[in-house]
Amino acid sequence: MKITVVSKDNTFLHRIKVVLLGGRGNDQIELVNRSSSHLDLDMPDIANANLLVLDSTESELPDWGGIEKFSLQHAHSSTVLIGSESIEQILVQAMRVGVRDALRLSEVEERLVEVVERARTRQAAFEGALRGGKVFSFIPSKGGSGASFVSSNLAYVLAKVHKKRVLMIDLDLEFSDASFCLTDDDSIKSIADLVGRPSLSGPVIESACIQVDQSFWLLRAPQNPELAVGITPDQIDDILSTAVRHYDFICIDLARTLDPIALRVMDRSDVVFPVLHAVLPFVRGMQRLQRTFKALHYPESKIQLVANRLGHKDDLPIGDIEAALQAKFAVRLPNDYPNVSTSINTGKPLFEVAPQGGLSLALVQWGDQLVGIKSEVAAPDSTGKFSLFGRLSSLFS
Ligand SMILES: Nc1ncnc2c1ncn2[C@@H]1O[C@H](COP(=O)(O)OP(=O)(O)O)[C@@H](O)[C@H]1O
Ligand SMILES: [Mg+2]
Repeated sequence: MKITVVSKDNTFLHRIKVVLLGGRGNDQIELVNRSSSHLDLDMPDIANANLLVLDSTESELPDWGGIEKFSLQHAHSSTVLIGSESIEQILVQAMRVGVRDALRLSEVEERLVEVVERARTRQAAFEGALRGGKVFSFIPSKGGSGASFVSSNLAYVLAKVHKKRVLMIDLDLEFSDASFCLTDDDSIKSIADLVGRPSLSGPVIESACIQVDQSFWLLRAPQNPELAVGITPDQIDDILSTAVRHYDFICIDLARTLDPIALRVMDRSDVVFPVLHAVLPFVRGMQRLQRTFKALHYPESKIQLVANRLGHKDDLPIGDIEAALQAKFAVRLPNDYPNVSTSINTGKPLFEVAPQGGLSLALVQWGDQLVGIKSEVAAPDSTGKFSLFGRLSSLFS
């Protein structure tokens, strides 16, 4: 792998080189001492880098435009910023232009090597080298779109109907809505029990989960948000690396705000499902997400739009939304208020309380698409008993 370090400061360049030489790989390391903050993308050492390490410890801001252009042009490469103690202040901006990691200068000795390994894994994944279970993440285009409800209930269907081993991870560390959609078990087991464990394995992950059904495990967000403080993207990454070897599907419910954990999860996802309603504020929220996806260089196939709660008289025409977003909906789910309310009020999965309801049938059909089969549960019978299913079929594009 080619690693290029860019800085105005020779001491910085030397320090980073020493850390990189202590790493695991046999990497080619290039040091670029530039005189301005402008990132010269025509320089071969920059243009051919697999990992770009940028100094942002100086008072002036990084060249955001240049970094974004680099991210867009180099799908296989990663960028890491090394900054001062107050690097948090530029984190969101950095994520938006496609920076994958940001470290304080004081922690490079401790953490830079991990970042390099992640860049290597990412590159290998691009080259099709890795993979076990599929990772799906679900993100609301705006709060209240139904991402938590839909993701947790789809995960349940994949286990119950499609007989897959499924791990549902509730990563809304503030509200943990997905957990409440599936169970009223108030056990205090949560993802906080796993972070920082030196040796993760399938059984260790399961020991921190609630087993909701025979092949369905729920890894909750901590009930007390204070326990979630300090959970890092690297720790979540480690859990995912283990989980893909033990489950067929890992479904992850993300919070409403984009943060470094969400970013890492989306990086690791085979598919990101943004969920939205067919009304304007959700469409605007989706456009914001799309800009971030673009800066992260996610291929179009990685993003699959989900239209939820369709059927309101105030809905915008789907065709107009697709034109505005320049993307088609992969999944269309109906509004099913009475059954959803029953499910939430009883703390039971939707499929248990209303297996033949409109939304359950749509989720089974979505599951069929994901596993590439046609399940028997949802098949309409000759009496037309499940005729709603027939109508729902036309909802999927
Ligand atoms: N298809 C649907 N039909 C009816 N109600 C729904 C549907 N999907 C979600 N809901 C309801 O919408 C509300 C918001 O859902 P939630 O999953 O918490 O949203 P998000 O995670 O996107 O913020 C919840 O009360 C949920 O029960
Ligand atoms: Mg939610």
